[in-house]
Amino acid sequence: MFDGVARRYDVTNTVLSFGRDRSWRRATRGALALQPGEKVLDLAAGTGVSTVELARSGAWAAACDFSTGMLRAGAFRRVPMVTGDATALPFADGVFDAATISFGLRNVHDPAAGLREMARVVRPGGRLVVCEFSTPTWRPFRTAYMEYLMKALPMVATRVSSNPDAYVYLAESIQRWPDQRALAEIIRDAGWNSVRWTDLTGGIVALHWAQR
Ligand SMILES: C[S@@+](CC[C@H](N)C(=O)[O-])C[C@H]1O[C@@H](n2cnc3c(N)ncnc32)[C@H](O)[C@@H]1O
Repeated sequence: MFDGVARRYDVTNTVLSFGRDRSWRRATRGALALQPGEKVLDLAAGTGVSTVELARSGAWAAACDFSTGMLRAGAFRRVPMVTGDATALPFADGVFDAATISFGLRNVHDPAAGLREMARVVRPGGRLVVCEFSTPTWRPFRTAYMEYLMKALPMVATRVSSNPDAYVYLAESIQRWPDQRALAEIIRDAGWNSVRWTDLTGGIVALHWAQR
């Protein structure tokens, strides 16, 4: 599916999110508090649009994804790219100072396995930030957002995306995804400590932070 949306992935995101995707990526970089010289894994990095934002910190940021179509569409970006499955990462134990996954964990077939793998490749004391769609906290806003998600978003995607059906899946997968508290539990159960979260854009997106 991601190979099929790769060509117009970046522009479709920006249109469907009214440009909010840029600020969500900046907030992810801020939450990771990366230092120059640190190594960060950007898992499910797709075209690497999330990875270049991380690299602005001065840290060494590596993109990993199992869709060669997505990686190829972002090959013009000057970041290291590795083909790999989130549930069986091609890295040794404890080699990263931090790991992050933006709008990817929801798509991983076994999210708990992905979280355990990130815990394996991050050193003790290292950080995790999960940037993912979540549940708006204010009920009237949540109702309006769900209308947008289920009705308007697939219509807009028909005009912008190279594979509009993928955006029906996007809307459905966001609806099915655990809310902030439930995701925090899943992250804790996967071996991460001190889990906490921050809502962005009223809870459309949440950043979950944890320590190894
Ligand atoms: C919505 S894109 C996110 C891309 C990028 N992180 C961003 O912020 O725009 C989700 C990505 O998850 C990847 N993905 C899904 N399951 C995966 C897995 N098991 N291993 C590696 N990548 C996976 C897909 O190939 C896709 O590129």
